[in-house]
Amino acid sequence: MTLAPVAGTYPKARRIKFRFDQHDSNDKYFVDGDMVFSHFVAGLSGGFPPGEESFIRSVRRVADRITDPLLKKRIAGFVGQEATHGQEHRQLNRKLVEMGYPIEWIDTEQAHARMLAIEERFSALVHLAATAAAEHYTAVLAERVLSSDEIQSIPAEPEFWNLLNWHALEELEHKSVAFDAFRAAGGTEGVRIGVMAGLYAFTLPFTFGSLAYALVRDPVARRQPVRVAREAYDLFRGPIFRGLMVELAKYMRPGFHPDDIDTTALLKHWQTELFGDDGVLVDHLK
Ligand SMILES: [Fe+2]
Ligand SMILES: [Fe+2]
Repeated sequence: MTLAPVAGTYPKARRIKFRFDQHDSNDKYFVDGDMVFSHFVAGLSGGFPPGEESFIRSVRRVADRITDPLLKKRIAGFVGQEATHGQEHRQLNRKLVEMGYPIEWIDTEQAHARMLAIEERFSALVHLAATAAAEHYTAVLAERVLSSDEIQSIPAEPEFWNLLNWHALEELEHKSVAFDAFRAAGGTEGVRIGVMAGLYAFTLPFTFGSLAYALVRDPVARRQPVRVAREAYDLFRGPIFRGLMVELAKYMRPGFHPDDIDTTALLKHWQTELFGDDGVLVDHLK
């Protein structure tokens, strides 16, 4: 069943600032002392700013085809949230580069120019279909991060968790915006599912490839191949990846809508936890 967004409710960007300057850079493997897990998370964070900028461009490309006032407001909220995610992840990414994570290549001027050239080769609707598909990835990951005690109990830098939980919360708040914009702009099921199928085929090779690249460039990883193998096994058998491909594939069912997966209660819980009267992140708001 598709749940239409309640009239008058739409995602709103929060003005927020995280502080990563207190981190002790000697402690390189900031996720549970786990080298592979830390490289995986650093790679994800490295990819967010340019990825989210592309998402924003994709909805802007169809702006003149959107007439529904509520959808326009939802798109404005989506753009504001993604722009803030990019800003805050860039801040974290600077820290991660200082700590020795090889993620700077993802967000250079050349990479930006390459991304623009790729976007121009596709129609606005294909570009937006890629965004809607990527938003399914972020929504699935966000739901996992916010609903799994196993994930939440992984020891890591507190400010890193704060950033991740805030980002995950807002990903759920706007999870159907790009999808609805795609439909409103005339996107068909064929294009939506076809684009997702392409992205889906690319998911594991891209994840393994970029993780392997990062690990090969880490001298500690090169000296400890057994540790790398054990941690990689644990990561891909663990709560982030277990059953992930099945959940991602749900998007390819004809008639699927992101709101078919009801995350309302989870969203309410975390809105209160982070931004309620005693919210953990109220003091981070500007
Ligand atoms: Fe985001
Ligand atoms: Fe998003």
